[in-house]
Amino acid sequence: MSQKKWIGFPDKFLWGVGSSAHQIEGYNSNSDWWLYEEQPGKIKKGEKSGAACDHWNRVEEDTQLLKDAGAQVYRFGVEWAKIQPTEDSWDESVILHYKNELDLLLKAGIIPMITLQHFSIPLWLAHQGGWAAEGAPEKFLKFSKRIYEELGSKVEYWITINEPMVVLVLGYLSGHGPPGSGGLGMMIEAMDGMIRGHALVYHECKKMSKELGWINPQIGIAHHLRVFQPKRKWNLLDWITAHGISRAFNWSFFDAVETGNLFFKVPRHVNVKRQLANAKGTQDFIGINYYSRDHVQFGFKHPFWFHVSFRQDRPLTDLGWEIYPRGIYKLIKQSSKRATPGKPIWITENGVADRYDSKRESFIKQHLFWLSRAIKKGLPVVGYIHWTIYDNFEWSEGYDPKFGLYENDFKTQVRTPRKSAITFKQIIQDNGFELDDNKLAAILGVKQPSLKSPTE
Ligand code: BGC
Repeated sequence: MSQKKWIGFPDKFLWGVGSSAHQIEGYNSNSDWWLYEEQPGKIKKGEKSGAACDHWNRVEEDTQLLKDAGAQVYRFGVEWAKIQPTEDSWDESVILHYKNELDLLLKAGIIPMITLQHFSIPLWLAHQGGWAAEGAPEKFLKFSKRIYEELGSKVEYWITINEPMVVLVLGYLSGHGPPGSGGLGMMIEAMDGMIRGHALVYHECKKMSKELGWINPQIGIAHHLRVFQPKRKWNLLDWITAHGISRAFNWSFFDAVETGNLFFKVPRHVNVKRQLANAKGTQDFIGINYYSRDHVQFGFKHPFWFHVSFRQDRPLTDLGWEIYPRGIYKLIKQSSKRATPGKPIWITENGVADRYDSKRESFIKQHLFWLSRAIKKGLPVVGYIHWTIYDNFEWSEGYDPKFGLYENDFKTQVRTPRKSAITFKQIIQDNGFELDDNKLAAILGVKQPSLKSPTE
């Protein structure tokens, strides 16, 4: 007979959902992404963000929707390109719009977590060279400072930059985002700019909050962390390469904001060591966006001598990404070891492209199981933010992938809860969920579930 096990979370654990401005608001026409979408062949099926989810005109209804969904926290972005349409101007009406949005959230009892920069940047900055441009960090500071002045008295949680490594790799190496070219050299300069920009904003907000007697802001970065596994277990070169990629992709930015030292190495190409002292100790929490695992194969014929792929014999999302729940546990452990002991950990994104909602419920439960395991091991995970509340514009993948707890009809903009939205709400309300031991055994990859001492 199958038995049930309660997977519970600490009393103060926070549950939320996330989004980004460009993906939901619509008409972000002063941004680099808007221009990029205009170029033929860049976005699947030639789709463009356009009106997106028209969130800009639906803030009230959407706040109600967040409440209905049971969200305790809402992670959302403010759009730099709209706030500062030119380098020397502010759009006051846009700032007012975000102030209103924030007040609506607070009135609804939802804790805001604000992302200052999520992929898109203003076109004027892109024309100057984006994050690699001289003075980019100071420009990010100027923008962020203004936002902090306007919203900082009411907001505790801040993310300066979303997934810096993804922006860098897509933008400069793989060509799946703006600027679409530039190579490793430019990428390093942009990375340097991002780290410096983040650090400037961190120190300024801390200083301002002290001077003004505001709530001490908790400032971090949403790091996109992946599991990199050698494709052939017996191949030493696959092992070394997987380790090297993980080091560069997962940890170079991460370590820089912990230690103030930037170390980024791609054998035969770059070996960067820089001191960025101002960046030391500039994340108050570890923000982890977790989605999948890559298998790494060494080979001379590949650019940079390696190739990454998803294992096809495992459960996959609609985008073909492997569903690998145990990875969230591994990355929590690894990141915690690299950071100041005891630093709080937020899962700032975790979600699945699943049009028919046939996998999302178990995706959520399996990832939460591993999260609870991390907490049991004493790792201070304080919150989980699901990506995303409703289907939206999925960057170069266009509108095809459906990451939403709510389905969005893009013609009518009617948002309808999927079954998994109801499940997630229930998990939030109960602060946990029941798992029967067969399912647990499957999650753990064992025949007989051993509830007391599962293998990791
Ligand atoms: C990004 C989101 C994106 C999600 C799903 C993350 O890399 O932060 O903007 O929608 O992944 O691909």
